[in-house]
Amino acid sequence: MASNLSELAATANALVAPAKGILAADESTGTIGNRLKSINVENTEPARRAYREMLFRTEGAANYVSGVILFDETLRQAAADETPMVNLLTDQGIIPGIKVDAGAKSLAGGANGELVTEGLDGLRERLAEYRQIGARFAKWRAVITIGDGMPTSTCIEVNAHALARYAALCQEAGLVPIVEPEVLMDGGHSIERAEEVTEATLREVFRQLAAQNVDPEAILLKPNMVVSGYDQSNRAGAADVAERTVRVFQHTVPASMPGIVFLSGGQNDEDAIVNLQAIAERGIAVKAPWQISYSYGRGLQAAPLKAWGGKPENVPAAQAAFLERCRLTSAAREATYSAN
Ligand code: 13P
Repeated sequence: MASNLSELAATANALVAPAKGILAADESTGTIGNRLKSINVENTEPARRAYREMLFRTEGAANYVSGVILFDETLRQAAADETPMVNLLTDQGIIPGIKVDAGAKSLAGGANGELVTEGLDGLRERLAEYRQIGARFAKWRAVITIGDGMPTSTCIEVNAHALARYAALCQEAGLVPIVEPEVLMDGGHSIERAEEVTEATLREVFRQLAAQNVDPEAILLKPNMVVSGYDQSNRAGAADVAERTVRVFQHTVPASMPGIVFLSGGQNDEDAIVNLQAIAERGIAVKAPWQISYSYGRGLQAAPLKAWGGKPENVPAAQAAFLERCRLTSAAREATYSAN
């Protein structure tokens, strides 16, 4: 392995170190605006900074959080006392990451409503700058929708191709690529259908990664869990979720890849933890070769966002809520949550 690849592999392994996972705090300006709106806070730069600074200054979170994915604005931002946000993280030994895709847009030639993620043009230059500012890993999210006649093979192929192009550029630039092909949990589909689509998607993603010479030892996969669609009335339980989820990876993911870090995908806090616990247990039972961990956005942030409510006097309560979500999610990742 070339020396920069062994450095990248070391970073990838550090991101999935025992008991640790990733905080996804890379909401675009529009998405964070929706979150702030839910607590009646206006979407201004100082509000976004105050909210994220509250999270990043939580004492003890570094026991559970190995890395934080940032949005462009935050990577360049300073805290209220002028300390760069990046330093708030690195001073605690937390690795800064950066979302580099430009969002999922309507796919020309796809079925109605299908999406393709944009952002490859100029990516090489942006990655070099992000690394210089301090990012050591990156994220690109592709979105696959399950529905009538969806996903099309076109949608899976173009998204997998773009993910592999992004991943190859990241490895060239000295950033660990988090490869995120998210099969959405929205809809009335069965868990069988979710399993089938997730497997087809991952198969194509790893085919493209190999075809484009991406080293599997220096990437992390950020997938959805295999769950019943949210609108299903009779949703599968955690044991079924775990068995199908781990099986899909056994069928598609190279053993040399260091880790799988799940997105929470809008599951409620309890499901995000109970399903992770069941998957971690299943991983141990089948001697899975990869670390199984988390890269949660909403699963870690919903509780502290609500506790904060935009008020400086609520910062300690919000930090306590954040630390508690981190502690529980870490326990689930270690398969010790039920013992808590
Ligand atoms: P959720 O955990 O809220 O799904 O967000 C994770 C993420 O980074 C999606 O790209």
